[in-house]
Amino acid sequence: MSRVKQQQLLRESQLHMPQGVAENYRYWGEQQTVFIESAKGCYLTDCDGQRFVDFRLGYGPIILGYRDDRVDQAVITQISTGGTLSGFSTPLDSQVVEQIKGLCPQIDQVRFANSGTEAVMGAIRTARGFTRRDRVAIVEGCFHGLFDEMMWKVDVENWDSSQGQNPQIIPFGGGIPTSSRNLVDMIELNNTESLETLFHDGGDRLACVVLEPIIGNCGSISAQPMWLKRLRELCTQYGVLLLIDEVKSGFRVARGGAQELYGLYGDLTTFAKAMGNGYPVAAFGGRQEVMSAVGSFAGGVVHGGTYTANMIALSAANRTLDILTNTKAQETIDQIGSAVQAVLARVFTAAGIEHVFAGPAAMFGIHFTAQIPSNYRDWRQTDAQLYNRFAWQLIAHGVMLEPDSREPWFICEAHQELDLAWLEEVATKALRIALG
Ligand SMILES: Cc1ncc(COP(=O)(O)O)c(C=O)c1O
Repeated sequence: MSRVKQQQLLRESQLHMPQGVAENYRYWGEQQTVFIESAKGCYLTDCDGQRFVDFRLGYGPIILGYRDDRVDQAVITQISTGGTLSGFSTPLDSQVVEQIKGLCPQIDQVRFANSGTEAVMGAIRTARGFTRRDRVAIVEGCFHGLFDEMMWKVDVENWDSSQGQNPQIIPFGGGIPTSSRNLVDMIELNNTESLETLFHDGGDRLACVVLEPIIGNCGSISAQPMWLKRLRELCTQYGVLLLIDEVKSGFRVARGGAQELYGLYGDLTTFAKAMGNGYPVAAFGGRQEVMSAVGSFAGGVVHGGTYTANMIALSAANRTLDILTNTKAQETIDQIGSAVQAVLARVFTAAGIEHVFAGPAAMFGIHFTAQIPSNYRDWRQTDAQLYNRFAWQLIAHGVMLEPDSREPWFICEAHQELDLAWLEEVATKALRIALG
């Protein structure tokens, strides 16, 4: 398939934007950077006319399908009567919160945001305001957005595990002040010693532990229930808030997110992505007592923003949550995810490739290894290079996904149109070429 037009578009864009893209993660190199012409259902068409079945779904927000008429119509109706924003409250604010509360029993009160990053920032500030402590702990391999303190990671890619040393902790890139590292601790998922040490050495200085129990940024590697239970106990014992980041998993892996699946609840939760089927909406919320730290009284936690709870975002969330609550969309998504896994498992098995699927059917990771990795360090032992070659071949043959096994496969309701026999044929061909 020709990519001539997209390569030309990239050269032109490079006059206007660094690397020719609107955000770093969209740059896939001079030859492969994708420009999209149109999207509908589970399909994308690029500017050279190639059509893809999309399992990337914009990094997860599309839960129903692109241009879902039910959601789009609700937005059009709302903005043609109420406008886009006024800088005042509307009845829609509480309607959306009531829907969230209907699905998530851990939530008493909510504040809105425009992106996952902003929701996490608001939640962490709330945790700090409530506990009057500054330190925050995060879990290796999780991602919580693009603000300085959350932009530190373990350098697993350049780590030699045979040396018996921990991987280095490095910033995601330039411009991250070293001082932003000072208040952040890092622990390993599913490592009890790492968890106990964190609390033993500094539990009384921690405001919160932030984590994705199903790591949507590490191939859906998931917390073991016992480890999570111990984390919950320690948080309660030390007066530390448990902040569950459900920006990717929320309203996707189950109606009530990862917390419903585990039956274990955080004090604060962040939401975004699936909440609005692609419209830019996010939120954080939690227990009444904790959320009451937010407000314009003396010492209250500051939260706000010009576009907060704008009516484009909230009308989309209102309708999306209504559909997820009152239809079988979630069950459909789970069934399709399982069927896609079954197809891929047949393809891998036929080729003699060791493989495992991690996480729930609506957001699953594929790892070429014998056992599901238990944390980010284990991911390093998987054959991520083979995955990368396989993924690029899938893309060449009309299946869109992120060519990195740390990004899960996302399923939307519109994938019910998918021809599974076609997928099997394409995956077989892609794997054969990837294996060389
Ligand atoms: C778990 C998690 N938290 C926060 C974010 C940041 O969200 P956003 O990109 O909307 O700022 C992401 C983004 O992928 C995420 O996956």
